[in-house]
Amino acid sequence: MNFVTASPDADFRTVLENGGILFFPPGEFSVPASVLDVLTGATQDARSIHKNIAYKTNADNVSGLAGGDSADRVREAMREYSKLALSFMARILPDYARGWKVDYSSFRSIEERGRALPLNKRNDLLHLDAFPTRPVFGDLILRCFTNVNPEQAREWLTSDPFAQFAGREAHHAGLEDYVRLARSPFHSLARGVKRAFRSAGLPVVDRSPYDAFMLHLHAWMKANGTYQENCPKYRFDLPPGSTWLVFTDVVPHAVLGGRLALEQTVIVSRSSLADPGRAPASILEKMTGADLTN
Ligand code: SIN
Ligand code: FE
Repeated sequence: MNFVTASPDADFRTVLENGGILFFPPGEFSVPASVLDVLTGATQDARSIHKNIAYKTNADNVSGLAGGDSADRVREAMREYSKLALSFMARILPDYARGWKVDYSSFRSIEERGRALPLNKRNDLLHLDAFPTRPVFGDLILRCFTNVNPEQAREWLTSDPFAQFAGREAHHAGLEDYVRLARSPFHSLARGVKRAFRSAGLPVVDRSPYDAFMLHLHAWMKANGTYQENCPKYRFDLPPGSTWLVFTDVVPHAVLGGRLALEQTVIVSRSSLADPGRAPASILEKMTGADLTN
């Protein structure tokens, strides 16, 4: 497994697209103390359905807070963090930045070790990310994490990236069902209806067979004890103050321990990859000969 400390001569796109973790030691990206003061003072709502305090960058809106009168200050702090993270990411990855879609950012304030979450939401089981409400149609989920805990490392576990994973597991996970869906005349009909519902303002999600498969795969991986037990595993301790970037739909990952991390997500266009053939959707389309992203 590729863990690459960023150096000026490294080709960052190739590292990420091959399923590497692009690591920046403490000091390369810093979150201002004023932002951290506000965030570490904010309490997350333990009963909330939200796993983290999330900031919807485009809507300038925060969810997952316990309430009280700190919401405006937290929103401001998250806005500031998001702006800094996005400009850091755009500086190191200008070819992605030209075509990416800015997604949410989050503040992860709860200790991950021993966290009681329903199986499908557990962070300590290896998984690939897929968003139920935000299909990507073959584009990729890039996340930039910063461990803002001054003392404690964030403990990550990863496994072999998508190209190897898919070769071993995609058929077991039921990929053929999604190939059938892609080839079914009812699929394009259903998508047309969903698009009409959406433009009428109804909250339906219009997703491609690829998105449906990735969502299924997320749950399948977490529920699959054999995979969790037997897959190759790589352990990383991400030290206080460090920052790392990873395509979380390319690299199976889990967090075993740690609290206080900030994270910004962008959706990277498949066509902006140094090699679009390395996108998970391209790998699956090559394996099956089916068009999975329409
Ligand atoms: C995840 O994306 O699954 C969790 C990673 C983290 O919070 O460190
Ligand atoms: Fe994840």
